[in-house]
Amino acid sequence: MTRDEAYNLMIQMLKSKNLQKHGLAVEAIMRALCQELRIKNKQSLRSKDLKELSDKEFDEDEWAIVGLLHDADYELVEKDPKRHTLVTEEKLGEIGGVSERIINGIKAHHDGIKDSRDNLMEKSVYASDELSGLITAVALVRPDKKLSSVTVESVMKKFPQKSFAAGAKREQILACEKELNIPLEEFVGIALKAMQGIAGELGL
Ligand SMILES: [Fe+2]
Repeated sequence: MTRDEAYNLMIQMLKSKNLQKHGLAVEAIMRALCQELRIKNKQSLRSKDLKELSDKEFDEDEWAIVGLLHDADYELVEKDPKRHTLVTEEKLGEIGGVSERIINGIKAHHDGIKDSRDNLMEKSVYASDELSGLITAVALVRPDKKLSSVTVESVMKKFPQKSFAAGAKREQILACEKELNIPLEEFVGIALKAMQGIAGELGL
């Protein structure tokens, strides 16, 4: 599956423009995290075998597709939220030729479907999903409602305020520290820059 095929599938499955934008935001963060973690990881890898393993682990389009499609069945499972991600899995099975890594990545973002997050891509989508929501909420309370007015400090200030964007689960965002070894402030910086890079598409 190519990135464009994944994008087309997302807009076909999701009618809500906000959910489509959310998919694009998580895609952008996933690409940035893939680049960042690839560099960090490669510094510690020397042998050729490990390098090959690393190339497989850091296939950027794969990370992007997981970001784009992670919520693709959101509207279809509205009456049965427990099935979230499973309808996407069925759909991708019908299409065929989609890697297990992508399907597992999509399932890994949703608690209760897949009990463990087994690789960096799965851990990344889990944390990025919620942070994209928090950053969007911070942009929307800026006077100009623009991502360009959002700073890392402004997101960090809102982070401990539980009543602000209460749906953006802080514990899940903190998986960046516990599972990716990226300090929260650095993670916010990576994600914010990634979202600012597609601000036009996000309408923010
Ligand atoms: Fe999401």
